Amino acid sequence: MNATIRAAVRQGLAIDARMVGFRHGFDGVIDANYVELAARSVGGILDQGGTFLGTGRSRRFATEEGQGIALDQLIALDIDHLVVIGGDGSMRGAHVLHTQGFPAIGVPGTIDNDLWGTEATIGFDTCLNTILDAVSKLRDTASAHDRVFVVEVMGRESGELAANAALGGGADFVVVPEAPEERSLAAEHVSYDHWRGKLHTIIVVAEGCCRAADVAADLAEAAHGHEVRYSVLGHIQRGGHPSARDRILGARMGAAAVEALAEGASGVMIGLQAESMERVPLADVVTNKKAFDRGLLDLVKTLAL
Ligand code: F6P
Repeated sequence: MNATIRAAVRQGLAIDARMVGFRHGFDGVIDANYVELAARSVGGILDQGGTFLGTGRSRRFATEEGQGIALDQLIALDIDHLVVIGGDGSMRGAHVLHTQGFPAIGVPGTIDNDLWGTEATIGFDTCLNTILDAVSKLRDTASAHDRVFVVEVMGRESGELAANAALGGGADFVVVPEAPEERSLAAEHVSYDHWRGKLHTIIVVAEGCCRAADVAADLAEAAHGHEVRYSVLGHIQRGGHPSARDRILGARMGAAAVEALAEGASGVMIGLQAESMERVPLADVVTNKKAFDRGLLDLVKTLAL
């Protein structure tokens, strides 16, 4: 997100706009908690995780009253365009402002990669790399001790993180919310792994579908004497230095958002489509569900041969 803010600010300054940043998301707009941003204010942040402005899931902005206060504040502060970076809730917020006549543009920033209209969201790649690093480390124990490991990853209601982590991490099996029925096949898969001579097994589960502890408990019998362990990766998945891909994506999206506002666009989200920055209607982003590629699940199994 820092790369996105830096790009938006500098792109704005390049066209002589006055740039400000609200602290802690929509709460900052409601409270008029903001900072003036100059070119130097966003220096040295490109490689930092999180956001130097702070963020938050505003309960107040979820109410009509809060939205009204936010609009009044924006007008009182003489602000005439807003770039909103975040996940589903943020895109809904940007859409609300747009429908109330305030020019707003969304930039998709969430580790979940669950937004319609973009092939990637800012943070997804960094998170995926963190998960792959963890899976590699867990594999060392799994292979040294001939164990079964169940790894639980984030992603809210989406299996994007889990499926891609399983594929990139060489896991043997993955369970995601988009295909919850697979969970009942996990035990059979572990037995099959051992039958065909695999001495350790890695299973990735998405938090939106099941708890690693429950899946691990179900596997005890199928593991034929091999010990089963589980690991919940938790919030380490959300932090750390952003990957090259995320920095570049954040930079491109932040600049594209300001360019779009300067050209009079509003009510759109900047999406990555076929390596290009596209403007997709926020109305579609907030109503459509991103399609999940179930082929990833089969590929994980095939490649685990
Ligand atoms: O939506 C991003 C996300 O990291 C989810 O993957 C996760 O379930 C959630 O946020 C965690 O939120 P919190 O930090 O509020 O517990």
